[in-house]
Amino acid sequence: MSGVHPPDHWFEPMADHLGSAYLRYSFTRGTGNEVAFLGEELGLGEGSRVLDVGCGPGRHALGLAVLGVEVVGVDISARFVELATEAAGELAPDIPAPTFLRLDARDMAFEGEFDAVISLCQGAFGLLGHDGGGEGPQPLDPDGVVLSGMARALRPGGRLAVSAFSSYFQVRFLESTDDFDAARGVNHERATLRSEAGIEADYDLWTSCFTPRELRLMAHQAGLDVEHLWSVTPGSYARRPPDLDHPEFLVIARRPG
Ligand SMILES: C[S@@+](CC[C@H](N)C(=O)[O-])C[C@H]1O[C@@H](n2cnc3c(N)ncnc32)[C@H](O)[C@@H]1O
Repeated sequence: MSGVHPPDHWFEPMADHLGSAYLRYSFTRGTGNEVAFLGEELGLGEGSRVLDVGCGPGRHALGLAVLGVEVVGVDISARFVELATEAAGELAPDIPAPTFLRLDARDMAFEGEFDAVISLCQGAFGLLGHDGGGEGPQPLDPDGVVLSGMARALRPGGRLAVSAFSSYFQVRFLESTDDFDAARGVNHERATLRSEAGIEADYDLWTSCFTPRELRLMAHQAGLDVEHLWSVTPGSYARRPPDLDHPEFLVIARRPG
């Protein structure tokens, strides 16, 4: 798969710094809940094929593999792909080892191959609203090619699960370290992150935030039918109607056919 976008994203130096320390952050602790919820919501079982877009160190892909699901994970961070691949190598021999690829999600060329596509904890989907302080700021995916690439990767009848930051929650609970760009719906924060070796360094983070209506329109534009839109907290996925009290929305959509 030849990429038109050089793998180059402001998240990469952050991922290099964090390495496996990413998995020490509290938002990763409820991976078991998220995997079980998605397994049910997406109707996954042994032999299902799933694409995980912006898979990071592979926590969902590895959890799904334990359920017998065959997973391909893609991420722009070489360091995270390396960590995910190492972890896949440690799975028991009877578990289908996920495959991980370094790939810019804007360059995906999968066609009708997957029963489900997931992009969680912003994945690639929620980190493309800002170019990281270049000449701009400019969105990295102005035409929504990541969402249409995910839709195209689904077989007809396959399902998508995408989690996205809630604009309502972000603005309602804005902290002194947050700088919310109302025109673009992108929150900027400067965060101090601790590496595997315990070294602290400051990084800029630009997270796109969404309303349910925007997410529905985007899914529709990508040719998907939204089945559900839930309000969730990482590690506490549940069937809750959209509200102002939870940090993320989880969109469950289906490719018609
Ligand atoms: C906050 S992490 C979430 C990782 C994982 N899904 C999880 O839940 O732990 C966001 C991930 O998206 C990846 N990402 C951002 N933009 C991307 C792009 N254009 N293509 C592929 N991956 C991308 C980052 O490298 C990072 O691993």
